[in-house]
Amino acid sequence: MLPRVLKTYNRCSINNRNIMDIMYPIRNLSQLPLIKQRAYIDGEWVCAADERIFTVSNPANGEIISKVPDMDERDVELAIKAASSAFVEWKNTTAYERSRVMKKWYDLMVKHKETIAQIITLECGKPFAESKAEVNYGNSYIEYYAEEARRINGEILQSTYPTKKYFVEKQPIGVVGLISAYNFPLAMITRKLAAALAAGCTCVVKPATDTPLTALAMAELGHEAGIPKGVVNVITSSHASNPPVVDFMCKSPDIRGISFTGSVQVGKIINEKCAPYVKRVSLELGGNAPFIVFNSADVDVAVQAAIASKFRNSGQTCVAPNRFLVQDGIYDCFVDNLIVEMRKLKMGDGSQGDVKIGPMINAAQLEKVRQLVDDAISKGANCILGGKRAPLVGDLYYEPTVLTDVRETMKLYMEEIFGPVVSIVKFRTEEESLFIANQPDVGLAGYIFSSDISQIFRVSKNLEVGMVGVNEGIISAAEVPFGGVKKSGIGREGGHNGIEDYIDYKYVCIGNLRF
Ligand code: SIN
Repeated sequence: MLPRVLKTYNRCSINNRNIMDIMYPIRNLSQLPLIKQRAYIDGEWVCAADERIFTVSNPANGEIISKVPDMDERDVELAIKAASSAFVEWKNTTAYERSRVMKKWYDLMVKHKETIAQIITLECGKPFAESKAEVNYGNSYIEYYAEEARRINGEILQSTYPTKKYFVEKQPIGVVGLISAYNFPLAMITRKLAAALAAGCTCVVKPATDTPLTALAMAELGHEAGIPKGVVNVITSSHASNPPVVDFMCKSPDIRGISFTGSVQVGKIINEKCAPYVKRVSLELGGNAPFIVFNSADVDVAVQAAIASKFRNSGQTCVAPNRFLVQDGIYDCFVDNLIVEMRKLKMGDGSQGDVKIGPMINAAQLEKVRQLVDDAISKGANCILGGKRAPLVGDLYYEPTVLTDVRETMKLYMEEIFGPVVSIVKFRTEEESLFIANQPDVGLAGYIFSSDISQIFRVSKNLEVGMVGVNEGIISAAEVPFGGVKKSGIGREGGHNGIEDYIDYKYVCIGNLRF
């Protein structure tokens, strides 16, 4: 049944307006199925309370792809009410029922994977091959948590007293707010959403402003799969509307947990806002991944891993290597080979088959990368490749860049670059490499390249990060706990650990038993 408040919601007024105001001509893109122009609340496709909209455009060429509702607190309130109503039934479904509907959703996501990958490339700009890989990766969370739902078991504990039995049950925490980032428009959401649904929570999802279309397509397929109305709600908002929308989510007493992927800066604000409400907070924030190449490394393996890890989504990933620490004995060989491989990376529109480097997501991100590189060069870094924007390719492109002689005084030494820039520091000893690697106040991922097994164990133990890749640049998977230490976040996503953010333990003591 619809929550009362939704009945009064002017969902249909959009039909009375000049539809062309809303359905902006999107050239032949309008032929692409699953591209939505409304948000999804309580199983309905809705516009914003005040019918405002914002445009979603392709960062590769600036073309408008769609216009979606620019929602505010009133819309969020409706979404929270819908999720609260739906929770009453969803929390009482069996794990088997949740698993079944999630499997159906997974099957539909697989069936439509090409289309979803196209949407990702359109709104996020990543090369189509990467978008297809993201769909497989994002879908793997749905599949994994559809299976994991049936293993969220409680415990019976050994009691000291013969007359007492101790039980521990795992229960869903309630309605959760899931706020995600632009760089993985699907996977960063399914990693949260699938775990929350498996646990029995209902959700208000707030995708990134730049990339809401993938989330809306995903919601459509969830709807088709039979996920009951109100269990998943997707709200959309512009950059200007995000602060009040997120504020409302953090302060709503009806939202029991917030899971956020994004910058350390915003993560800290969310944490502060939730603290007075003693709300469950899970934060997957930025990193400054060291990529350490020791003298004993296989240089080809290290170079291929560097390319895969650094240039995934044009460097816009939080696990991308931020500083390459290269030991003096292998330094020249590694840098020379890396440059040979980087010269092969073609920049351009990700929908073209051979493109490997897409655009930055928006002008602000491009400007940030430009400033970090200029700052490093002005403080003595040696730019041996790239080092500037690529206006002939498009407005938002930055050349794959290599900076050597990077030092602590440069901003990019401590700050996350989030762009296609390799910054290199030469070191002599293992101890020195660990000191440099652990200097930042964040610690998400780290990478080690070495053929010395003792060194691998020593260094991975002493790196202050949540995840380590050893002779491997791509470490993410649905089965593993993804997350960081220090200011890189709180909690883990993925694997059986990812369920923890969405459950409460309930201990039940049964006393006065007679045997
Ligand atoms: C991220 O960059 O936020 C996530 C990357 C991943 O899941 O591999």
